[in-house]
Amino acid sequence: MRYFILVLIFFVLLLGVVFEMAMAQDGVTAVTPPPSPAPQSTPTVDRLAPPPTAETPTQLDEGAYLYWLYCIPCHGDKGQGLTDEWRMQYPEEDRYCWNSTCHGSNPPQPYGFQIPTVVPPIVIPHGGLERFDTLGEVYYYTRGSMPLELPGRLTDEEYLAIMAFLANEMGIWEGQDYSAQNILGVRLRPDEVIAVESTATVAPVNTPKNVTTISSDLLGLVALAFGAVVVIGGVFVWRRQNR
Ligand code: HEC
Repeated sequence: MRYFILVLIFFVLLLGVVFEMAMAQDGVTAVTPPPSPAPQSTPTVDRLAPPPTAETPTQLDEGAYLYWLYCIPCHGDKGQGLTDEWRMQYPEEDRYCWNSTCHGSNPPQPYGFQIPTVVPPIVIPHGGLERFDTLGEVYYYTRGSMPLELPGRLTDEEYLAIMAFLANEMGIWEGQDYSAQNILGVRLRPDEVIAVESTATVAPVNTPKNVTTISSDLLGLVALAFGAVVVIGGVFVWRRQNR
């Protein structure tokens, strides 16, 4: 009988160890997923600075420069729109665009102008451009309406260059120069259907599967250990009775 109790204690301990290990494994898998955030070096970057100039500028280089010159104050360095975060990059005295006599009511004459308090993002990952399907539509809209204070101020080539910059920011630029014709065929969301499909299939299948494998692993181990205790205990009791 004493022998049996010793073995029973041993198996209870073993069960504890197995349980601990399973929990530790669980803990490890739960801890690993959050990727360590990449060290951010933004504070040293001057986001108001002009883009570097190239010796023989491509349409994209020109677009980046023109965007900086004409669009950046209102639409932000990434096309994010006039967000509070972007305004805070300005020098202190320029942060409050909508103050009276700045770009709010009663702007200074003769060149002052008012800006709506919402300036939309114009690079799709940040939102915006919802009413356009092709870059051609954006081009014709911009050509007729932007920059807000002086619509039509730039040449067609300059507007096209800015479109190359926006396309590059959106990851749809394929390296060719845009013309007033070929830009009409450039879709803003070329892989919309594929993107929707892949997010729909990948995300939900993966997560629940991970969860169930972890918990069933754990349950399996516990059940195995428990089973072992019952079987071996049973054998000892049976042997004792047969003595
Ligand atoms: C003075 C501020 C200002 C400047 C400068 C400016 N914009 Fe805008 N932009 C706006 C505002 C405000 C709107 C929203 C107008 C509306 O919805 O009627 C807008 C709208 C747009 C839109 C349409 C976005 C959408 O989804 O409806 C595009 C594209 C655009 N701007 C491109 C440009 C480009 C390119 C430049 C530089 C050449 C530029 N803007 C310069 C203020 C500005």
